[in-house]
Amino acid sequence: MPKIKKVMITAYGDESKLAIVEEELPKPAAGEVQLAVEYSIVSGSDVNMRRGIYPFQKKAPLTPGYSVLGTICLNGKGCSKFRIGERVVCLSKYEGQAERINLPEQFLVAVPDGVDLKAAVALVLDWVTAYQMLHHAAHVEPGQKIFVHGLSGAVGGALLSLGAVQRAQVYGTASEAKHEELRKLGAFPFSYSNKHWIKAMQETGGVDAVFDPLGFQSFDESYSILKRGGILVSYGMNLPTFTKTSSPPMLPSIVKLLAKNLFFWSGKRTTFFGLNRASKNYIPDLKLLLTWLKSGKISVPIKATFGLDEIREAHRKYASGEGMGSIVIKMN
Ligand SMILES: NC(=O)c1ccc[n+]([C@@H]2O[C@H](COP(=O)([O-])OP(=O)(O)OC[C@H]3O[C@@H](n4cnc5c(N)ncnc54)[C@H](OP(=O)(O)O)[C@@H]3O)[C@@H](O)[C@H]2O)c1
Repeated sequence: MPKIKKVMITAYGDESKLAIVEEELPKPAAGEVQLAVEYSIVSGSDVNMRRGIYPFQKKAPLTPGYSVLGTICLNGKGCSKFRIGERVVCLSKYEGQAERINLPEQFLVAVPDGVDLKAAVALVLDWVTAYQMLHHAAHVEPGQKIFVHGLSGAVGGALLSLGAVQRAQVYGTASEAKHEELRKLGAFPFSYSNKHWIKAMQETGGVDAVFDPLGFQSFDESYSILKRGGILVSYGMNLPTFTKTSSPPMLPSIVKLLAKNLFFWSGKRTTFFGLNRASKNYIPDLKLLLTWLKSGKISVPIKATFGLDEIREAHRKYASGEGMGSIVIKMN
């Protein structure tokens, strides 16, 4: 069995709870393949797992790493879809920040030749989340108005790009230093440090969809800018993670979000979105985004790249306010 280096969240807490350990990796089981990982990512989920607040998470010690890109190095029993050395991506959820990983063959997608590898690994979580919220949760049509909290973030930036591809008008929030760049990308940005966007959006007549990863208080504000027929899509309760404050329990936020559907006469709806690699759309959507990446229809910003040994730095960079896009981990 090969010994591999991997990240370990040794206990819940700050970045000091992240360590690099060496462990033996067993051979892939039947139906699994082993990848030599080239790139993984750091996302809000990793940070929340480190804080011990990710919904239904594995208990620490655990290895995070929500998506991987790598080459096939071993095929387990019954696996023949990919040849040794072929490059693939996969939504891994755990164990991705490691030199090697065993994954079910059924969830792997081949990476087209010639695409940027960091961009490809960022598609797997951040961009499929954005694509599915836009198309399967909110069904955004050309000409509609959408509002994106955190336009400068990994998922928010993907919503902006994919919203533009769908010819939607994209409004949203980001820190002011990024507004000029966001305007160049076609967005109408507001600051999140004041609430001026609420009145401004109400004065436009409201929006068709809001995408909200923030939580409790934000759900009321987001709901208030929907027009009749509009939908609030939440995909997190993560304001405390961005502000590095303690997190309240999730249940009241979820109840508050979904209870708004009881006011059916308002004509507005709310829903919670969670990405699932076993859903029927996951693999087709990822393949479509890889095709768009190859053709240049989308371009994927990368906020920063770190080595495996720099994992603490990578966590500090998350929600640091500098740069735009996804954070990538390059294996040694
Ligand atoms: N449900 C799912 O399936 C799913 C899938 C993927 C991700 N997620 C969740 O999606 C969320 C976004 O992740 P991400 O990786 O895109 O995060 P990210 O790249 O760190 O982006 C965070 C965004 O939030 C903004 N922000 C920072 N502080 C804020 C504040 N106080 N109020 C409002 N906005 C603030 C940032 O703006 P500035 O940088 O301009 O300051 C940035 O645009 C995370 O909570 C993650 O867990 C959920």
